[in-house]
Amino acid sequence: MTSTPFRNGFAPATEEITAFDLEVTGRIPAELDGRYLRNGPNPLSLDDPAATHLFMGEGMVHGVRLRGGRAEWYRNRWVRNAEVARRLGEPPAPGPVHAGMDFAANTHVIGIAGRTFATVEAGGLPYELSYELDTVGACDFVGGLPGGYAAHTHLDPVTGELHAMAYFAGWDHHQHIVIDPKGVVAQVRDIPVADRPMLHDFALTRRHVVIYDLPVTLSMAHAERGAPLPYAWDDARPARLGLLSRETGDVQWVEIDPCWVFHTLNAYDDGDQVVVDVVRYPKRFVDARLDLGGAPTLDRWRIDPVAGRVTTTRLDDRPQEFPRIDERRTGSPYRYGYTSAAADLHDVIYPAAELEDLPDEAFDNTLIKHDLERGTQEARRFGRGAYVGEPVFVPSGAAEDDGYLLTYVNDPARGAADLVILSARDFAGEPVAVVHLPARVPLGFHGSWIAD
Ligand SMILES: [Fe+2]
Repeated sequence: MTSTPFRNGFAPATEEITAFDLEVTGRIPAELDGRYLRNGPNPLSLDDPAATHLFMGEGMVHGVRLRGGRAEWYRNRWVRNAEVARRLGEPPAPGPVHAGMDFAANTHVIGIAGRTFATVEAGGLPYELSYELDTVGACDFVGGLPGGYAAHTHLDPVTGELHAMAYFAGWDHHQHIVIDPKGVVAQVRDIPVADRPMLHDFALTRRHVVIYDLPVTLSMAHAERGAPLPYAWDDARPARLGLLSRETGDVQWVEIDPCWVFHTLNAYDDGDQVVVDVVRYPKRFVDARLDLGGAPTLDRWRIDPVAGRVTTTRLDDRPQEFPRIDERRTGSPYRYGYTSAAADLHDVIYPAAELEDLPDEAFDNTLIKHDLERGTQEARRFGRGAYVGEPVFVPSGAAEDDGYLLTYVNDPARGAADLVILSARDFAGEPVAVVHLPARVPLGFHGSWIAD
């Protein structure tokens, strides 16, 4: 077997499980009525080409249904594109395919207009899932999507519009897509860009969509070598941020120092300026591997479109990823953010040799809560082997930060995962509830709380 990033916390689940009436420590708040779902790459076999790159494994969604203070079920299901269905001996799910890009969407899972979708970027369509996570089929919203969709979306909490930025190696543009609260594609705008860059996430403010046009571009040299993900850092290419006016569709570009960004924490308009908080890598995406030239930091861009200038300040220099907020604050000034400092994630990103001399505590798996008003952070450690992923915020009261954080945490003693429910306001205190799942949940990418 060739080397695989699907080891340690990312080692894939090997079977689909259904379990009912899960054991709980603590008390699940009765107001949590819905499903916590999380997607991630889970190759069918470690001998497959899909197992050689972290981004290429077939999607598997892990879900827990909460209702009336009980954890009714846990399910994990592969997303069945035609190939996964064939490998599992099932008939293919019906549905459209964009440009031959039939991918078992592995990056995010979201709710749109009462439906559930696994999403992926770079040309693939979303796959619709049933309430119980069975694959319904690929979806282009009744022909509303001209091409593929995106892994990341941002819901405008004021208008109810769902925004996305799609890209595809076969396009000379990015595509801004707005889906209305009824689940209908309401607006599509093409934004010309050079060099076919990768675009993972973007930011949304009340007036703007912020586009990250960074120097990770389609590499023909890598494509010809058969690289599973033929994108590479281009030293010669400038980096810039685009302010797309939501009203007019005009884009103003402002140059920045080269860097790479997967994820946005939040963004907002501040007078004529725009503030964008991101997890930012110093540079390089060498050879289409996850070598980003160093650890990511949480940084703030202040974009001054009048002066044509961006200033960068550091919010936190600890390596961290998977930033989430109270999404009622998306696009508006906000105070709190939550991130994950999962060591196993960075063990995959960096060559293992560099980690050999680290002390035990370097392997602590930690969630971080940021108070951006005070400039302080609170860390919650789960201990060695307790790999922990993205924390999803679920609102309770009206105020920001009044709610819960949900995430899967590995319990190395049981060799299985817990769904941990924290009080966002008592971040380091005892969990509100811990739901004991019957199986491991590998580290993955992104998830959502989808209320019933
Ligand atoms: Fe992501």
